[in-house]
Amino acid sequence: MNFLVFLGHLVFVTSIIRSEKAGVAGADDFRYLTGYAGLNQTGAHYQFTEYMPDLSVVQMDNTIESSCGVGYWLLYDEVDYDPLTNETECHFRPYECGNWSPQCQNMVSSLRYAGSPYGLNDDYYNLYEGTIFRGKEFRGNTNAADLGDLDMAVSSLIVTGQSAWTFYTDVNLTGSDVCVYADEHYTYGTIDLDYALVQDMEKLGLPDNSIRSVARGCLSDRVLGQPGGERRSQDASN
Ligand SMILES: *[C@@H]1O[C@H](CO)[C@@H](O)[C@H](O)[C@H]1NC(C)=O
Ligand SMILES: *[C@@H]1O[C@H](CO)[C@@H](O)[C@H](O)[C@H]1NC(C)=O
Ligand SMILES: *[C@@H]1O[C@H](CO)[C@@H](O)[C@H](O)[C@H]1NC(C)=O
Repeated sequence: MNFLVFLGHLVFVTSIIRSEKAGVAGADDFRYLTGYAGLNQTGAHYQFTEYMPDLSVVQMDNTIESSCGVGYWLLYDEVDYDPLTNETECHFRPYECGNWSPQCQNMVSSLRYAGSPYGLNDDYYNLYEGTIFRGKEFRGNTNAADLGDLDMAVSSLIVTGQSAWTFYTDVNLTGSDVCVYADEHYTYGTIDLDYALVQDMEKLGLPDNSIRSVARGCLSDRVLGQPGGERRSQDASN
């Protein structure tokens, strides 16, 4: 699969299962990604604020070459978030405009964001069926005693915000566990974003397809990241 990351908002409903309480979005919480058909933010464009499983719906399939955006966006070579294919990974700096790297241009066919639909940096988790954030998803901002369709089917995950989340290898918050804090911290103007990218279960030290429940907070002796890690401002380097 090909996969692009853009730090630069989603509620489309394809195989998304959620566990959450509604929050309130703040003024700086506008997550978006504007994709342009030309380099340097020129040509036909479209502003995405929600999940988009098929870019042909907005005449942008295999078309985008540059973008502006805020939030953490996941970009895929195939429709429906690349459930099957292998990946080429492309990263973009958060909160900015820029040309996509050549291998990422004119190839994106679906996109979605990671994090809370309510506030950019609200405490949230996204669990994915495939490695590198591909395929079906289970996401939420509350404890989940089971993961529905993604029971024993999680291969990657993203944690957003300042709370840790604990992931368990059995239902009802039992079994082996590991807690994950955000380990990447960005500040841009008045916008903060904290997140951790876990591209495969090896990074967590858990077997693939073993996660079965989730709890808010750090309730494990095994901890990835740490609370309140330093945020850094964006600079010109990639
Ligand atoms: C994009 O901008 C750069 C720097 O201003 C310029 O050198 C380049 O020619 C531009 N490319 C296009 C396709 O407009
Ligand atoms: C993905 O990559 C692996 C290892 O390179 C390969 O064995 C597999 O066939 C590839 N799968 C697809 C769908 O390309
Ligand atoms: C979780 O615990 C509750 C209450 O103890 C129980 O009713 C439920 O069956 C358990 N769920 C699973 C999937 O074991």
